[in-house]
Amino acid sequence: MTNATRMPVAIVTGAASGIGRQCCRQLLDDNWQVFALDVSAAALRDLGVELQTEDRLRVLPCDVRDADDIASVFAEIAEQVSAVDALVCSAGILRTGPLMDMAVEDFDQIFSVNTRGVWLCVKSALPLLRQAASSEMPSRVVMLGSIAAIRPKIGGGAYAASKSALSRLVRVMAVELAGDNILVNTVAPGTVDTPMIASAMAAPGKTYKPSGKSPLGRVAAPEDVVAVIRFLLQPASNYVTGTWIPVDGGTSAAYVAPDALAGN
Ligand SMILES: NC(=O)c1ccc[n+]([C@@H]2O[C@H](COP(=O)([O-])OP(=O)(O)OC[C@H]3O[C@@H](n4cnc5c(N)ncnc54)[C@H](O)[C@@H]3O)[C@@H](O)[C@H]2O)c1
Repeated sequence: MTNATRMPVAIVTGAASGIGRQCCRQLLDDNWQVFALDVSAAALRDLGVELQTEDRLRVLPCDVRDADDIASVFAEIAEQVSAVDALVCSAGILRTGPLMDMAVEDFDQIFSVNTRGVWLCVKSALPLLRQAASSEMPSRVVMLGSIAAIRPKIGGGAYAASKSALSRLVRVMAVELAGDNILVNTVAPGTVDTPMIASAMAAPGKTYKPSGKSPLGRVAAPEDVVAVIRFLLQPASNYVTGTWIPVDGGTSAAYVAPDALAGN
């Protein structure tokens, strides 16, 4: 809990699946009030069913590609709460394929969700984040980056570029919002066991391959990533802003040659 006098409030985008969904579970366990946003109304209904005993959860369909939709959903949130302590931007898409074969529409969609969508959500959340922020207890924005931004892979060029652009946004945003007592940080996972990766693996004939097991010997679970998001939402991280934290079991730390892997 980040505020001594009222229940803390979080908005989570991409809340219906994978890392965003686990984040909602964790925040509810930690006694936050949660607004869960996702483009998939059906998946949100499923989340509502899973967490139906939680009167602190509100699910709201929202497409982060659509500035008007974001503005209206955040206005709806502002009718229900006067301040928001945290925004977690987990909405993201992975579309794969060699850069020269990629359709223009796919390229644009990737940037529209993974980069522009994050910026739009922070813009819309800003008045509510400012209301909650103080120097003793800053408000927080946590974005989902990817180690693709620092170690891109063939078949994932557009995705890597979208997350790389995000890595610059977070730094500038953090400094621009520091005077408002709003912390802006990014967690950058390697491969995480979520529906996003399952569908990338299932796609036939793709050159893209997920990083898979890390040097720690396993693929991350959503809980591994949410543990670091949770740290970034707690007072322990009050002096942390503008960072990009890999949560990848060492995957991006050093190159591992294929024959070294075979010898493992
Ligand atoms: N899973 C991984 O291996 C991995 C690795 C690195 C980074 N990430 C990043 O973590 C974040 C979460 O990924 P995940 O693995 O949980 O994926 P996921 O596919 O399980 O969940 C993503 C959610 O975002 C929602 N979404 C997609 N487009 C949207 C839009 N336009 N508006 C609102 N919601 C939208 C989807 O409906 C889905 O519920 C993403 O930003 C992703 O790029 C994931």
